[in-house]
Amino acid sequence: MNGCHALTDKAYQRLIRPFLFRQDPEEIHELTLNWLEQAERFGSPHLYKLFYPPVPDLHRLKIECFGLEFPNPVGIAAGLDKNAKVYNSLLSFGFGFVECGTITPRPQPGNERPRIFRLLEDEALINRLGFNNQGQDALLQRLHQRPKQGIVGINLGKNKDTPNEKAAEDYQRLLTAVWHTASYVVVNISSPNTPNLRELQEKTALQRLLDSLFQTAQELQLQHPRQLPILLKIAPDLSDEALRDLLEVVHQFPLAGLIATNTTLERNQLRSSHAHQTGGLSGRPLHTLSTQILSKLYRELQGKLPLIGVGGIKDGKSAYDKIKAGATLLQVYTGLVYQGPGLANQICRELLTHLDKDGYAHLSDAIGADHRS
Ligand SMILES: Cc1cc2nc3c(=O)[nH]c(=O)nc-3n(C[C@H](O)[C@H](O)[C@H](O)COP(=O)(O)O)c2cc1C
Repeated sequence: MNGCHALTDKAYQRLIRPFLFRQDPEEIHELTLNWLEQAERFGSPHLYKLFYPPVPDLHRLKIECFGLEFPNPVGIAAGLDKNAKVYNSLLSFGFGFVECGTITPRPQPGNERPRIFRLLEDEALINRLGFNNQGQDALLQRLHQRPKQGIVGINLGKNKDTPNEKAAEDYQRLLTAVWHTASYVVVNISSPNTPNLRELQEKTALQRLLDSLFQTAQELQLQHPRQLPILLKIAPDLSDEALRDLLEVVHQFPLAGLIATNTTLERNQLRSSHAHQTGGLSGRPLHTLSTQILSKLYRELQGKLPLIGVGGIKDGKSAYDKIKAGATLLQVYTGLVYQGPGLANQICRELLTHLDKDGYAHLSDAIGADHRS
């Protein structure tokens, strides 16, 4: 089957990607999701599974984390399937989990177009979408119509016109709405494209927000008992002091884990002509920065809270770097755009090679290895 992988990966890079990259980034993204969504009506996920069959020895990459069993650690990051259109297709490409959203309680159009830019020379993207999404009801309707064939988390955000003082109400409303449906939820306060959203990462604001949210969670838990892991997604642009403050708050709540990181506002050493565009930068130039934050979190938390590493993962090496820095799970977005749908399988195969080289029987043995050497 290795030959089949190589063939489909080459086909993406030589034929499909050049075609896709001739189109406007957002238009082709929407079109691709619509094609995949239509194809799902004809049972396409069964077909994808033939092209992307599970990697041999995958049991060595199986991860149990916050009460869920992940078939492999490579997930899809938030923003790619905002409205939960193609999570089953993405799972059948071999991804271990999918995070839908960010959704907001009410639908909203987001910022003016154009708002996604490809930085080809840097293998990066800049986006300033601004939580464009169809709202919680549309997302839930899809998830109810098409039973999820794996782990599907939901990433929650506030509406643009909800002031920060009332942000908690948006997150409480969303948590209540998705309580029965999500495999896990993520509180997103780290997008750079919703004005002032990142201020919710500050100590007092975060404390107030999580206080309200966990109160709601407790009430829901009493009425409809279930284990719903609640995670927090953070920005890569936090100073050491801000990170310490944030962790002080994190310790006070039963969060299931942290996701590090969202896109960055930094623009270091970019070559592409789109480098000056406003928005969040993702992809290769984000890898070092987001891995440094991940590493700091792991050190401060002493491995007590699972971390999802995201930012600039494009192959097995960049994925393994995150694992050794302290990630239990991984997510990709920009890497998928540049490498194609075979990326999950490629990363899994290469992770196994790294484990063999370093003499680890299982991926969990390598988590945080950088901190032990
Ligand atoms: C076009 C685009 C849209 C995104 N939308 C969201 C979003 O709605 N919510 C969110 O938490 N992160 C969003 N992200 C950030 C990704 O989830 C991820 O954290 C970031 O891109 C870094 O990973 P990458 O380098 O693999 O892309 C978005 C990223 C991109 C490129």
